[in-house]
Amino acid sequence: MAKLLVTGGAGFIGSEFVRQAVEKGYETVVVDKLTYAGDLERLSSVGDKINFYKADITNREFVEYIYKKEKPDIVVHWAAESHVDRSILDATPFIDANVKGTQVLLDLAKNSDISLFVNIATDEVYGELGERGQFYETTPLNPNSPYSASKASADMLGRAYYRTFNLPVVTVRPSNNYGPWQYPEKLIPVVILKALKNEPIPVYGTGENVREWLYVSDCADAVFHIIEKGKVGEIYNVGSGQEKRNIDVVTSILQILGKPQSLIQFVKDRPGHDFRYSLNVDKIKKELGWEAKVKFEEGIRKTVNWYLNNIDWVERKLKTLKEYWEKVYS
Ligand SMILES: NC(=O)c1ccc[n+]([C@@H]2O[C@H](COP(=O)([O-])OP(=O)(O)OC[C@H]3O[C@@H](n4cnc5c(N)ncnc54)[C@H](O)[C@@H]3O)[C@@H](O)[C@H]2O)c1
Repeated sequence: MAKLLVTGGAGFIGSEFVRQAVEKGYETVVVDKLTYAGDLERLSSVGDKINFYKADITNREFVEYIYKKEKPDIVVHWAAESHVDRSILDATPFIDANVKGTQVLLDLAKNSDISLFVNIATDEVYGELGERGQFYETTPLNPNSPYSASKASADMLGRAYYRTFNLPVVTVRPSNNYGPWQYPEKLIPVVILKALKNEPIPVYGTGENVREWLYVSDCADAVFHIIEKGKVGEIYNVGSGQEKRNIDVVTSILQILGKPQSLIQFVKDRPGHDFRYSLNVDKIKKELGWEAKVKFEEGIRKTVNWYLNNIDWVERKLKTLKEYWEKVYS
């Protein structure tokens, strides 16, 4: 079986991917800087079955050493600064990790024997939609936040390395993920935690913005389909078709927890807030036979239950978040 080098494997989605990789029998090497968003606890169930390097992907020498030592067959590149609000406060770490880090990984991959480089992008690279329409893999990129601009740069770099150097790159553009182990700065865990503490729940604008919610295990599963059956040089959208307004997501969590809607507090909208994203996923469905399995109603229940059962982990994370929340929502 192929040997995987997984960047960002201690993050929310990367760790789900690593847990599935180990279960499938892949030899797995994880490279992660362990920023505020990275946490080895997410990998505790597979810790003795992976090789872990605490490394910054912008550190060319160290990445070169890891490539040479581990000789991976496939690179799955999840590592990134991933939170839009933080990119509005300071874009610099986003350009460093997402643009420079991706370029370092791609550049060094040219001199290695890898058979595939899976470059994880996002639906946010396409920009925003109105009430109607969908993004296709052929839709021009039109990012609106420093985060999505940095991800679009990384996406384009991957495709440029395919075209220019024949590097076997495949590009993946998933929609909004949710599920266990998500750092409690993103919408769904924020709502769960604030509701549990009976604190006001901040919702941007009027809560009308629409996102397409993909359960994290489905996202990882899509990437395995792409590794096993995908075509080099191609782009694959990965979405669930389950679009929800933010306000409806918040309402469903409050209902599950039996908390009142009066906890909702509308706050000043995020600058440049994209109204809606929606992915057309015909290509991955028809060509690779992948489809999201988890319906939103089931996934959100599982997610709420996970947070209830892992409240200690969350409390530890919350200690580091207080100051940040004050900056973002003030
Ligand atoms: N979360 C989503 O809804 C979503 C949707 C579409 C695409 N994505 C993309 O999927 C990937 C994973 O997202 P996530 O939500 O799991 O993010 P995350 O923030 O939870 O995890 C990112 C991981 O990358 C690591 N990292 C950051 N900078 C690094 C660096 N310079 N060197 C090495 N490691 C570094 C962090 O320590 C962390 O473990 C990202 O590329 C993100 O852009 C996420």
